[in-house]
Amino acid sequence: MKKYRIAVVGATGAVGRELLSILGERHFPIADITLYASENSRGATVEYRGSEVPITVLSEPTAKEARHDIVFFCAGALVSSRFAPIFARHGAVVIDKSSAFRMEPDVPLVVPEVNGHLLKKGLAEGYIVANPNCSTIQLVPYLQVLDDLFGLRSVVVSTYQSVSGAGQKGIEELQRQTAEVFSCRSAVPEVFPQRVAFNVIPHIDKFHPDGYTEEEKKLINESRKILGKPDLDIDCTAVRVPTFYGHAESVTADLERPVDIERLRVAISEKRGLALMDDPEKLVYPTPADVAGRDAIFVGRIRYGRSGADRTRVQAWVVADNIRKGAALNGVQIAEMVIGKELA
Ligand SMILES: NC(=O)c1ccc[n+]([C@@H]2O[C@H](COP(=O)([O-])OP(=O)(O)OC[C@H]3O[C@@H](n4cnc5c(N)ncnc54)[C@H](OP(=O)(O)O)[C@@H]3O)[C@@H](O)[C@H]2O)c1
Repeated sequence: MKKYRIAVVGATGAVGRELLSILGERHFPIADITLYASENSRGATVEYRGSEVPITVLSEPTAKEARHDIVFFCAGALVSSRFAPIFARHGAVVIDKSSAFRMEPDVPLVVPEVNGHLLKKGLAEGYIVANPNCSTIQLVPYLQVLDDLFGLRSVVVSTYQSVSGAGQKGIEELQRQTAEVFSCRSAVPEVFPQRVAFNVIPHIDKFHPDGYTEEEKKLINESRKILGKPDLDIDCTAVRVPTFYGHAESVTADLERPVDIERLRVAISEKRGLALMDDPEKLVYPTPADVAGRDAIFVGRIRYGRSGADRTRVQAWVVADNIRKGAALNGVQIAEMVIGKELA
């Protein structure tokens, strides 16, 4: 079997570490692996399949000299903007988890279960593929099912996003603030704009003049691009909640045609990447605690919306592990499709 020269930029971070563990779990065919991080990690090592791999500090000279087949970027938009084009020019397929290139018209923005057909197969030339935002990735497979069956007219999403969405430093802030609140000390916010422990914050990323946050705009614009529906009527409020892993979303959809809920349930359970978890009378519905560490996107609380007797509105609750399917796993699945494996 052919093996590939792989690199991970941001290998010391929350997504980078999860990505390494998924590459190992899924036996990705690797000839050699290079782990990049910043100057802060000079001299550090990161474990990959039982071995300690030394960190290479990323710089323009190291990027220009390097020759990789596939490079995963998990280090934020500034690092991607500066270095991803260098690796792509030298022939690597770059799978970028940041927002740097997502909305560029010639960069495919891919959730494999939804629009994997956009990926070029093989490694003949270098190019960039963008991985969507975590809250977008878990939403679009469900929206695609709705659209295919009943025609999507409009969508309203409220997100409940865990602190790991802000990376390792977000996880550490919730740990620190929880201890501070329990010991009656003041919990000073550093990463999030307000105290996140024992609180919810309707503010993720910067505000735009129209009152929407950058996170809300990402979900709206990326969903339109991935679904190929540039005029989709979609609205969003993005909220940070004090959970460590797993994002949840309340999704209200209005459809062109009346919804048959049983048909919808069957389609969700048959859609690759989605899992039905919907039996409220037996307390069966997904929560972030259930889905942490799991691959699927879980859908539950499916019911008709109360407005209108024509049954064209449906409510659902969609939950996934933001570090896994929301970032690292989606990137590995893209790489698997690029090297010609079937989606699994
Ligand atoms: N967390 C999520 O739910 C999620 C979901 C989807 C997408 N993403 C995206 O994934 C990326 C990584 O997020 P994360 O949550 O893993 O962040 P994180 O935990 O803060 O990790 C950031 C990583 O980037 C590295 N880095 C920073 N500056 C660098 C530089 N100049 N050169 C090389 N490496 C550098 C850091 O290395 P040092 O340790 O050396 O500083 C660290 O390994 C971001 O683009 C984020 O938007 C995250």
